[in-house]
Amino acid sequence: MKVEASAPSNIALIKYMGKSAVESNLPTNASLSYTLEHLRSFVTIDENESGDRWEPLTGLTKLELSEFGKNKFLTHFSNLKKRWSISGTHTVCSANNFPSDCGLASSASSFAALTLATYELSKNKNVDRLELSKASRLGSGSSCRSFFSPWAVWRGEGAEPSNLSLQLEHAVVIVGADKKMVSSSEAHKRVSTSLLFHGRPERAEKRLVQLEQALGKSDWKESFELCWAEFQDMHALFETSQPSFGYWNEGSVRALNYFRKIWNETGDGPLVTMDAGANVHILLRKDQTKSADQWLKGWNSLRSWNA
Ligand code: DP6
Repeated sequence: MKVEASAPSNIALIKYMGKSAVESNLPTNASLSYTLEHLRSFVTIDENESGDRWEPLTGLTKLELSEFGKNKFLTHFSNLKKRWSISGTHTVCSANNFPSDCGLASSASSFAALTLATYELSKNKNVDRLELSKASRLGSGSSCRSFFSPWAVWRGEGAEPSNLSLQLEHAVVIVGADKKMVSSSEAHKRVSTSLLFHGRPERAEKRLVQLEQALGKSDWKESFELCWAEFQDMHALFETSQPSFGYWNEGSVRALNYFRKIWNETGDGPLVTMDAGANVHILLRKDQTKSADQWLKGWNSLRSWNA
């Protein structure tokens, strides 16, 4: 039997950074994300007779996975097979609908799609999305938020839908596509060596409550300030870890200054955030896309709306 599944990526506005249990990806704080329906991963699983293996899925942008990446993916597959009593050996193919060289992490969407496809393969049909989210977390933490849309909140073992219903547009300003020197899994370990990690779970939890309130009452400026403080907090952890590390390049700094200038000059602008990478993500209200076409002129970007 051949099965297929697809799942979206997500961008965290309150970040998952730091684990209380490394192997099982339990987070030290709750996180809040917006689901990026336009940035998706696709997975097919087919039986074979030669052992579990991974291949790039043809027909989409060709994906290349490092040995580490393949291992992580196939280990999750093998654990899910045990969990759902799936026998036999399989070829797992995956790809994304976004370029793999644009510096966008695909771990959330690809692990969520792998979890969904493996579940398709199982005879077990009584697992709900909350349980699927928990199972996916074991492969890669951030993937557990990709099961709910438009907003997901992840506390403890799995994510659930947030009460927020606001629909946004997304763009990522691509300022670098270099391979990460420090993977996000390694970043999770290293941040605990930063003196700033004391109080980090409390700061993130407090911001999450404040951000849900601000977005809930459409206080856009306050939402911007909270998102800004949050990603700066995470990147400050990176820069003050031992040994320290960082992801920003000159383009990141230029883009951040540029968006802040827009806010300072017009009193309006996008929500801005960054993951463990150099690229700058922006989220927009639906009524801002015309302005955003202007803001993004001259920048290399991937957008969720048609310019
Ligand atoms: C910076 O989910 O990639 O994107 O659980 O080790 O696979 P593992 O880590 P991962 O961490 C993502 C961290 C982040 C912030 C976030 O998405 O919340």
